[in-house]
Amino acid sequence: MASALVTCLLVLVILPSSTVSSSYSNASATTMNASSAKSIQALCQTTPYPAACLDSLKLSVSITIDPSVLSLALRSLQAAISEATKLSSLLSSAGHAGALVESQRSSLRDCRELHQITAASLRRSAGLVEPDARKLADARAYLSAALTNRATCLEGLTGARGPLKDTLVDSWIASYAHVSNSLSLVTRSGGRIGRRLSSSYSHRSSQGRGFPAWVGRRERRLLQDGDYGEVDPASVVTVAPDGTGNFTTVAEAVAWAPSYYDDRTIILVRAGVYEENVEIPGDKTNIVLIGDGRDVTVIRGHRSVGDGWTTFASATVAVSGQGFLARDIAFTVSQFIDDGEWLESTAFPYDNGV
Ligand SMILES: *[C@@H]1O[C@H](CO)[C@@H](O)[C@H](O)[C@H]1NC(C)=O
Ligand SMILES: *[C@@H]1O[C@H](CO)[C@@H](O)[C@H](O)[C@H]1NC(C)=O
Ligand SMILES: *[C@@H]1O[C@H](CO)[C@@H](O)[C@H](O)[C@H]1NC(C)=O
Repeated sequence: MASALVTCLLVLVILPSSTVSSSYSNASATTMNASSAKSIQALCQTTPYPAACLDSLKLSVSITIDPSVLSLALRSLQAAISEATKLSSLLSSAGHAGALVESQRSSLRDCRELHQITAASLRRSAGLVEPDARKLADARAYLSAALTNRATCLEGLTGARGPLKDTLVDSWIASYAHVSNSLSLVTRSGGRIGRRLSSSYSHRSSQGRGFPAWVGRRERRLLQDGDYGEVDPASVVTVAPDGTGNFTTVAEAVAWAPSYYDDRTIILVRAGVYEENVEIPGDKTNIVLIGDGRDVTVIRGHRSVGDGWTTFASATVAVSGQGFLARDIAFTVSQFIDDGEWLESTAFPYDNGV
């Protein structure tokens, strides 16, 4: 009896680190399997923060577990949760003895509150990473909701001072890099149904965004809620890098869009890094690009003025067509990529329309 109890306890204690101990139990299993290392590297290149991705998946390379996208998504999510836990304790010590001096009252309180929502969303989503399309869609929705908290707190932190500021900002960025990567990997695992959570999870995300007066009610709904229910379904196409959509590049979808069209053409751009320059010519009117989030849907151009392109042609996305709108998508330029890491500050945050 007693020994059974001891065994039970041992199992409980060992479980969380069983992956680690197994890598020591068999020497040949610890040698890196070159082919799965390659595929993990290729997979990480498709995430917004490849270096953070590799970092979180390193362990998976050394233990020869099932290298499916799903298990790697879970691994990335675990890294996100562990970073978020560190961040939580940093945030609670930030209030002491001038460690962080806010420039705006309550910015720290906001961060704490938002981070609690994020941490809860991460835990919920971790329980949903299973081979089940509905669960994956929910996992994706929780991760998207968590990501909306990222910018809000960072704004408040940027204005703050104090010895803890840099540590806190770095930890915040690192933590959300793993969240972005997890969203990108979960989306690749099949969680691609465009469900939205109730507003309680994504509160603040779409409030208070000032729209120019010319943006009508329908456009507002498109931009604010990603709600394209009023659009003819035949005018909605999907772009996905893995071939599960109608097109694999944004340029192909734009080429498909009808010319001089009075109604909206919706192009859903699934999570991924698109290495292309997109031109929306004058005859392609009323095109709307909707990404999965500007941390995960990235269009990365390769032309630069230095290479002899004009400023207009070198734009990652050059727009001549009228009525163009975009949300939850980032446009960036490859020249600004440093050490394989996508630099946030160079991305043009296009989640607010034109
Ligand atoms: C170690 O793992 C390899 C490959 O998985 C296997 O062939 C071998 O039998 C294992 N050795 C031991 C001692 O478990
Ligand atoms: C590496 O792992 C993959 C997938 O698990 C397997 O198909 C392949 O044979 C392995 N290669 C080596 C050299 O062990
Ligand atoms: C896009 O793909 C969907 C689902 O496979 C299909 O129903 C739809 O007809 C496709 N649209 C176009 C324009 O090919």
